[in-house]
Amino acid sequence: MGRLDKKVALITGAASGIGRAAAIRFAGEGASVVIADLNREGGEAAVRDCRENGGHAAFQLTDVSKEENIKAAIDRAVKEFGRLDVIYNNAGLGGAVGQLEKTTADNWDRTFAILLRAVFLGIKYAAPEMRKVGGGSIISTASIAGIRGAAGLHAYCAAKAGVISLTRSASLELAKDKIRVNCICPGLIATPLTYNRIPGGEQTATQLFAGFQPWPRTGRPEDIAAMALFLASDDSEFVSGQAMIVDGAATSGMSAGNLPQAAQGSSSMLGDEWSGPSFEVKRPS
Ligand SMILES: NC(=O)c1ccc[n+]([C@@H]2O[C@H](COP(=O)([O-])OP(=O)(O)OC[C@H]3O[C@@H](n4cnc5c(N)ncnc54)[C@H](O)[C@@H]3O)[C@@H](O)[C@H]2O)c1
Repeated sequence: MGRLDKKVALITGAASGIGRAAAIRFAGEGASVVIADLNREGGEAAVRDCRENGGHAAFQLTDVSKEENIKAAIDRAVKEFGRLDVIYNNAGLGGAVGQLEKTTADNWDRTFAILLRAVFLGIKYAAPEMRKVGGGSIISTASIAGIRGAAGLHAYCAAKAGVISLTRSASLELAKDKIRVNCICPGLIATPLTYNRIPGGEQTATQLFAGFQPWPRTGRPEDIAAMALFLASDDSEFVSGQAMIVDGAATSGMSAGNLPQAAQGSSSMLGDEWSGPSFEVKRPS
């Protein structure tokens, strides 16, 4: 028996990366999945992957910056598979990047339309369908960029922080209807979004990204899909309003940079086993 047997899920941005991995995983657990994306070729390939993994799937051409497209994707899920249990608001891009003073208001608005307004609309139109079937699970992809700053990613960070905040407020309103609202904050994950602009692409990125976080390997789309599966399944029935961080401990520490290594001459700036009162410390010459 699959963990999502008889459930119907809509995933935006499922033609690639994290969304595609989630669609394949959901399908393998018995869900019927609507793949909503701007990229038709990738979306149709994802449908084939889902079917090969044992689930039902359909592609809906969707631009999440358009309100009527989000409505149409939700209608498609209900028409094609009879109900809606899960929406995973995941579509995304880098959006407005670079220096704040060079960022145009237009690019700022376009970024917010895709990364935040689309999440609001996904929640708004999915909730009534979930209420009809006695509850559901709303998942969105935020980011660790929503809880930390990132140079040159002002609009992205602000929009992802908005996703976390909206998750919390929506969870309060929808709890009485047994609709859970959670988001996932991935760390650095090797997907076309992060490796397409790197010379050497996926292969180079996979080596490079391994050093980004304490966990000794690169983050994979499947790491995020596993959390999405938990949030979509009944296993998370009492979990709502949360931002689940999946980042290989990237945000677990203070950003002390390389300070310990900077203490040349001693094995560590912090001492070896015990860091006692500073007046007792013999300063290395
Ligand atoms: N990869 C990472 O390191 C990382 C980290 C944190 C958060 N995220 C977030 O994860 C989500 C998925 O990104 P990914 O890394 O899998 O990237 P990706 O580029 O592989 O996938 C994103 C998908 O979103 C689709 N998309 C973009 N704009 C759209 C629009 N207007 N309407 C419909 N679909 C649209 C793309 O076509 C693509 O299929 C995004 O929200 C991203 O911000 C990614």
